Amino acid sequence: MILSPEIERYIRELHPTSDAVLAEMEAEAGRRGIPIVGPVVGRLLALLVMVSGSRRIFELGSAIGYSTIWLARAAGAGAEVHYTDLSEAKAREAQGWFERAGVADRIRIHVGEALEAFRSTSGEFDLVFNDLDKESYLQVLETVPSRLRPGGLLVSDNALWHERVLAPADAPSRAVVEFNRRSFGAEDLLTTLVPLRDGVLISVKR
Ligand SMILES: C[S@@+](CC[C@H](N)C(=O)[O-])C[C@H]1O[C@@H](n2cnc3c(N)ncnc32)[C@H](O)[C@@H]1O
Repeated sequence: MILSPEIERYIRELHPTSDAVLAEMEAEAGRRGIPIVGPVVGRLLALLVMVSGSRRIFELGSAIGYSTIWLARAAGAGAEVHYTDLSEAKAREAQGWFERAGVADRIRIHVGEALEAFRSTSGEFDLVFNDLDKESYLQVLETVPSRLRPGGLLVSDNALWHERVLAPADAPSRAVVEFNRRSFGAEDLLTTLVPLRDGVLISVKR
């Protein structure tokens, strides 16, 4: 957590309790140590989908599909949301949650390397949510912006990487530092960093 525990708790307590499916997923993720964005960043994702009117969304790194459900619900009926994960088992589990959450009709599941799935899915996207292994972040920056519509969003989790961006001592930390630096410097993007939870980097395509 980047903010003080008291501020984290205050922000968390402002949020309404998650509905039964999301609450069950939060408990399950906690029990099994699956890193999900949680309700505070989930709500930020939903807000970004709604203000941008995003209907075509690609998620890079989806695990059991918790953030996918936030994106898919906010995008609404008839939207197209792409789920990706390396794990066949997680994808099968996610499908079950999507059915229970009533959003299975708008989600397409890809198992395997997320950026390969992204490259082989044609067309422009309104919003891409990036939650991959941190060493893939620079590749994301090289691949995604040219496929966003003007006004489209690239949103990345863990932009503060548990504060390790302050003293990057390993490859994932250095990758996040460089990703942040290049995102802020990119002429085709307008970027900001929201210090909620572990930091969310948001770039809009000019
Ligand atoms: C942090 S978790 C995703 C959590 C999810 N976004 C959420 O908040 O509910 C990251 C997931 O990305 C997957 N992943 C990591 N690198 C990947 C890659 N290169 N291609 C596809 N999936 C990848 C991992 O298997 C893991 O399940």
